[in-house]
Amino acid sequence: PTQTTGSLTAQPSKTPSTVTGLLSDMSTIGKDVVRGGYTRPVYSTAELELREWFIDEATQRGLSVEADRNGAIWAWWDTAEKDRTNALITGSHLDSVPGGGPFDGPLGIASALVALDILKSRGTNPTRPLAVVVFPEEEGSRFGVACLGSRLMTGAIDPDKARNLRDSGGNTFAAVAKANGLDPRFVGRDDQLLGQIGQFVELHVEQGRGLIELDQPIAIASSILGHGRWRLRIHGQGNHAGTTLMAARRDPMVAASRTVVAIRDTALQQAHARATVGRLQPVPGGTNVIASRVDFWLDVRHPDDAVTAAVVQSIHQQAQRIAAEEGCVVSLTEESLSPTVHFDTGLLHQLQQALPNAPILDTGAGHDAGILSAFVPTAMVFVRNPSGISHSPEEHVLDEDAETGAKALADALETLLA
Ligand code: GLV
Ligand code: MN
Ligand code: MN
Ligand code: MN
Repeated sequence: PTQTTGSLTAQPSKTPSTVTGLLSDMSTIGKDVVRGGYTRPVYSTAELELREWFIDEATQRGLSVEADRNGAIWAWWDTAEKDRTNALITGSHLDSVPGGGPFDGPLGIASALVALDILKSRGTNPTRPLAVVVFPEEEGSRFGVACLGSRLMTGAIDPDKARNLRDSGGNTFAAVAKANGLDPRFVGRDDQLLGQIGQFVELHVEQGRGLIELDQPIAIASSILGHGRWRLRIHGQGNHAGTTLMAARRDPMVAASRTVVAIRDTALQQAHARATVGRLQPVPGGTNVIASRVDFWLDVRHPDDAVTAAVVQSIHQQAQRIAAEEGCVVSLTEESLSPTVHFDTGLLHQLQQALPNAPILDTGAGHDAGILSAFVPTAMVFVRNPSGISHSPEEHVLDEDAETGAKALADALETLLA
């Protein structure tokens, strides 16, 4: 047969081409002995080690590995013409939340590599380029904005805003990007790369209970709930825990605590709303110190973006009232906002042809696929999570479901290539 690729036929892979085998390779990297699970923030030693692992796996498969200007890695299976138009892209991310599970992100990367192996074993001869992408900072656990890599690539975030984001150590994204080989002046919308993408399909562990309840191993995604992140900052009066009478305090921790309860109650009153405070920082943070300031972060999600806005507005008003009652002052700042996403219906129907038994599910979790869907036809495949728990070490995928997922991804890619 004529040589058409870069190519997957070049070298035999010494590594196992099963999803569980690839996940097992990754399983030693970034273990969090304190929290349990994995902590792999973007550009940490662990995430960089995973990238190296990925580059190695991709290279062994004869793929051409390239980094883009926003820190994503692309492993290309080129056609003979090396004409990168209308490319079919799959992939996910390797970064994690603090103490996350082993599958959120890595399952999509491992499944993508295995799906390409399956296509190769089927003798598939792609007539258009295929690539596996690893997006950086999907979780936003380091710089606060989820899907930072895909937002930069698509221009969904102002590069100046991105450059000035800071991690908890005070390092700017610009400085960290530079230390990792990027030129921070050139982060941002990448029209050339975007113009090469024909379709994007992301496989991901399901992060809720949908597939458990349906008793199915895989699903096709229909939509992602709109969601956003806001920082609340309450200023009070820092003071001594022993000498300051209770009635004389302006304690921002008390105001923050009351606000957290109000947030929960507000979401409870609104069908389908989810509101979470998972991170709170008292300043300076001493046991015998009344805090002078408390920062905490609000995550709100709802299928109707107008309802999300109304929930946040109500929370803001309640926070102002509570802060005033406690002698404090509060401010609320939007850090990111992602409208509700409905995936491309044409692509969804093509995936249904490839995967006729897969149910259709929506999700409350955010993904790079959600960002890309505003620019290119995008779809997602979910794999059952028998614990129904994610962003936790208890996240799980059965071995057989993992392989079923990779085969489903291969079937979907093959259908899209036909
Ligand atoms: C990312 O995983 C999110 O949905 O917050
Ligand atoms: Mn994820
Ligand atoms: Mn996640
Ligand atoms: Mn996510």
